[in-house]
Amino acid sequence: MAGILIQVSCLILGIISTTVGLDNGLALTPPMGWLTWERFRCITDCKKYPDECISENLIKRTVDLMVSDGYLEAGYEYVGIDDCWLEKKRGPDGRMVPDRERFPSGMKALADYIHSRGLKFGIYEDYGNLTCAGYPGVLGSEQLDIDTFVEWDVDYIKLDGCYIEPEHMDSGYPAFGEMLNKTGRPILYSCSWPAYQEDAKMLPDYASIAKHCNLWRNWDDIEDSWASASKIMDWFGDNQDRLAQHAGPGHWNDPDMLLIGNFGLSEDQAKTQMAVWAVLAAPLLISADLATMKPEFKRILLNKDIIAVNQDKLGKQGLRVWKQRNISVWNRELSDGERALAFVSQREDGIPYAVSLTFKDMQLPEQTYEVQDLYNEEKSRTVSPGEEFNVRINPSGVKFYKFIPKNKVLGSVQAKQILNSNVFNNEINNKH
Ligand code: GLA
Repeated sequence: MAGILIQVSCLILGIISTTVGLDNGLALTPPMGWLTWERFRCITDCKKYPDECISENLIKRTVDLMVSDGYLEAGYEYVGIDDCWLEKKRGPDGRMVPDRERFPSGMKALADYIHSRGLKFGIYEDYGNLTCAGYPGVLGSEQLDIDTFVEWDVDYIKLDGCYIEPEHMDSGYPAFGEMLNKTGRPILYSCSWPAYQEDAKMLPDYASIAKHCNLWRNWDDIEDSWASASKIMDWFGDNQDRLAQHAGPGHWNDPDMLLIGNFGLSEDQAKTQMAVWAVLAAPLLISADLATMKPEFKRILLNKDIIAVNQDKLGKQGLRVWKQRNISVWNRELSDGERALAFVSQREDGIPYAVSLTFKDMQLPEQTYEVQDLYNEEKSRTVSPGEEFNVRINPSGVKFYKFIPKNKVLGSVQAKQILNSNVFNNEINNKH
């Protein structure tokens, strides 16, 4: 009897916990898309900067390029407007009003355009009284604003945390998420909740955050420089014991946007950001002008093998497993026993740096691997237990490889041979 009671109460608790948690079925792999903030900030003067101001023109132009230049096909599906899209005052009915000059057609028409090209629509708001740039926040108008977003067919909301006490976030963010859930429209929910708590030296409750948000900004805003990207990598490595376990299908840590294609990163540094973000199972949100994207950066953003690592269905965030002399090794376990390993140099001494690492250093299960260079700069090679793995890494650069268990490679070759000989035998049999 007691057993049955326990089972029944577990069932009820199970039902309650699944209904209060975020249950939108989205982001089974890290979200991919494009977002205005890092590159276009709060540029609102369209007379002076017609190609850069936050406006429907910028969004439409980006949507067209995402389709024509292969970004959508590669998986980048969300196009998001960050801060600075609102009028400074709500309308007489209390509703949010998109800037009348920069969004003359309104958000529903923009959403229709985005959807007609096969993309999804993301938008920014803030949980406080004001957004970080001083536009009206949602506090006190939550339901009305959510209803408005649903009328506009929004697919993704980034909810920032300026102008609200971090102490209120533990209840506020889940409450907003539940309201989103109740609309019945699947809306991806990006929370800035832990970023403000980390900043206030509180310890965020990541278990709760992972239950209520699809992705969450953990820490500082990324800026367009190697120093900033490098600092963020260090922070994610230093804090991985608290963070990594909470990432998984439906819920991801977010180290912030990709800088690739802007002014601040060299090609080597851009490759490094892409590799480490792939290992971290991070959302891949480009924030660059696609109209002026140089081919070498585009190649990095569209690298199919690296995107496949990022999107691996096991959904396990990788770890920094070794760091010495400003060289670090990042290891992500993938499905089917494969691994992605990034060897990152944060050295500034001007020449490629050589390291030799053991299986133990790389935290690699002992078996023979075929090693494929994900940037296609080197030929494939084999490494076996007992051997050391040698790499040479450019300053502020990366070597990024997939380690494929050799028995798997052999397995598939043998399978092909068997298949071929069966076909051959069948042909012979059929002839007789
Ligand atoms: C905060 C966020 C940024 C961006 C700006 C907009 O700083 O962390 O990502 O959204 O606000 O004002």
